[in-house]
Amino acid sequence: MKGLILSGGYGTRLRPITYSQQKQLIPIANKPILFYAIEDVIEAGAKEIGIIIGPNKEQVIETVESEDWDAKIEFIYQDEPKGLAHTILVAEDFLDDEFVMYLGDNILRERIMEHAKKFKENNCDASIMLTEVENPQQFGVADINEDETIKRLIEKPKVPPSNLALVGIYFFKPVILEACENIKPSWRNELEITDAIQWLIDNGYEVGWTKVEGWWKDTGKPEDILEVNRLILADIQTKNEGTAENSRIIGRVIIEKGVEIKDSIVKGPSLIGRDCLIRNSYIGPYTSIGNECVIEDTEIEDSIVMEKSEIIGGGRIIESLIGKEVKIKRKADLPNGKKLVVGDNSEIVG
Ligand code: TTP
Repeated sequence: MKGLILSGGYGTRLRPITYSQQKQLIPIANKPILFYAIEDVIEAGAKEIGIIIGPNKEQVIETVESEDWDAKIEFIYQDEPKGLAHTILVAEDFLDDEFVMYLGDNILRERIMEHAKKFKENNCDASIMLTEVENPQQFGVADINEDETIKRLIEKPKVPPSNLALVGIYFFKPVILEACENIKPSWRNELEITDAIQWLIDNGYEVGWTKVEGWWKDTGKPEDILEVNRLILADIQTKNEGTAENSRIIGRVIIEKGVEIKDSIVKGPSLIGRDCLIRNSYIGPYTSIGNECVIEDTEIEDSIVMEKSEIIGGGRIIESLIGKEVKIKRKADLPNGKKLVVGDNSEIVG
């Protein structure tokens, strides 16, 4: 089985961060979201992976190539984000075998191995993954027949036929190429993968499904990124390779090499990346701090701070997504409990 991982798209709902960073490279527990997908696809047995790249393509290539992967990785350029089914057409030459298509901004707790096995065993032409959601109106939803086969797929239905939403991970045989060639762009002018799968159903091909039981997240918006950060940090094990002076470390905390913590409290689950300086501060639960950050005279909780950022006198910051190389420096006391989404290289000076 091959892997096709999507790392294109504009990521408009994550602006301003995505003006300068490709969405799939945003770190969750200090690891790009995309890496969770690559690891999952390799674990499921893929030896060849095609990564769809679009805007910020150089960043994606550089970040992926900074690691050694146990699979051959090829980058496939999509000139414009014309839809999920369009990426399959763009990757046509690569897709000569069955494959898993994985949206590079999706994270799944239970991983895909068991789902991949079922796809092989059932020998379907395609297999989708469904999960129960409380608000099916906001997802692609499957209408299931009494015999458990799929009747149809509907995007964001006003009256949902079930609460089973489509997860952004799909298994296909190469016949999906024919489906993508035969569909028309939707009202939003994209070639929709749901339409391509519906084409398979309507033309007598077999489309199976498996159910996802653990958590699944599509990290489209800042609150989704923070939620996945919480979920991943909830499972970390303590590691301390830094130094702490006149400080308290409470609960499960990962402190990487070169970190200096002075006159501070760090409460887990939280993660402090390499070579950070934490002084006279409180780092609260569910916080990931990237490498080489400086946090002074600040209380921060339930947030992500990306690498090389400096927050000095930041007051109390909660539920925030702070980009790379951001400088927040405040002299005066400011209202407590700030929620921020700050793009890369920004300066906030009070
Ligand atoms: P979306 O979340 O639907 O789109 P987006 O990432 O551009 O975000 P927004 O809606 O906020 O503008 O895309 C799902 C995934 O598929 C995501 O990882 C990006 C990727 N993608 C492509 O690689 N090519 C495409 O043509 C599209 C539409 C998405």
